[in-house]
Amino acid sequence: MSGLFISIEGTDGSGKTTQIRLLEEYFKNKGFYVVCTREPGGNMISEKIRELIIDKENTEMTAVTEALLYAAARAQHVTSDILPVLEDGGIVISDRFLDSSLVYQGFARGLGIKTVKDMNKYAVNGLEPDMTFFLRLKPEDGIKRKKNQKELDRMESENEKFHQMVYGGYMQLARRNKQRIKVIDALKSVEDIHKEIIENIEKLFSEKGI
Ligand SMILES: Nc1ncnc2c1ncn2[C@@H]1O[C@H](COP(=O)(O)OP(=O)(O)OP(=O)(O)O)[C@@H](O)[C@H]1O
Ligand SMILES: [Mg+2]
Repeated sequence: MSGLFISIEGTDGSGKTTQIRLLEEYFKNKGFYVVCTREPGGNMISEKIRELIIDKENTEMTAVTEALLYAAARAQHVTSDILPVLEDGGIVISDRFLDSSLVYQGFARGLGIKTVKDMNKYAVNGLEPDMTFFLRLKPEDGIKRKKNQKELDRMESENEKFHQMVYGGYMQLARRNKQRIKVIDALKSVEDIHKEIIENIEKLFSEKGI
């Protein structure tokens, strides 16, 4: 496979969408074929699963159901949206990927990282991002940013302890995957964060001889 797969991770409101837009622009200006997508979602089937997951009426959803729904959405996403672009030599930027499940369901919901990894084995089929950016922002700062934007969905309106667990989970995952996961201070300005992301991308390009 000759393409490049990048994922952006972080707590709610940490600036993922903002940075994805800028990164997409950067790649387009360089003449690359780039596709931006998101999890859960990216295609009609996975977007329908997303609706189920974030619906505030689904208060009785168990952690296992939630984890399996994310994995199901991911299975479709990988096959219909990500792999075809990579096979064509394109760049995929995904707003969240497997790390989100490991952190939200494995860590914060308490299912365990290994259990959630196992649940996702068939979904990812060995696919891993070439590089992941974790936009590190304390959950309380992210929620503050988001509250100005829109009403919070089922996941976003989880209690503070849950969001703190997510944050801690990301930190742990980043420590265990230093090579792949780049931790970026999301309190910095939009422009400074973009610059830091580009620096890492350029390093990756020179390593890969692109
Ligand atoms: N570095 C930054 N400094 C200050 N504000 C920012 C920064 N980056 C993004 N924002 C603002 O914070 C809000 C959330 O940003 P954004 O939607 O990009 O985050 P997100 O991680 O995609 O959130 P979501 O969890 O909704 O997907 C927006 O109003 C955005 O303009
Ligand atoms: Mg977003």
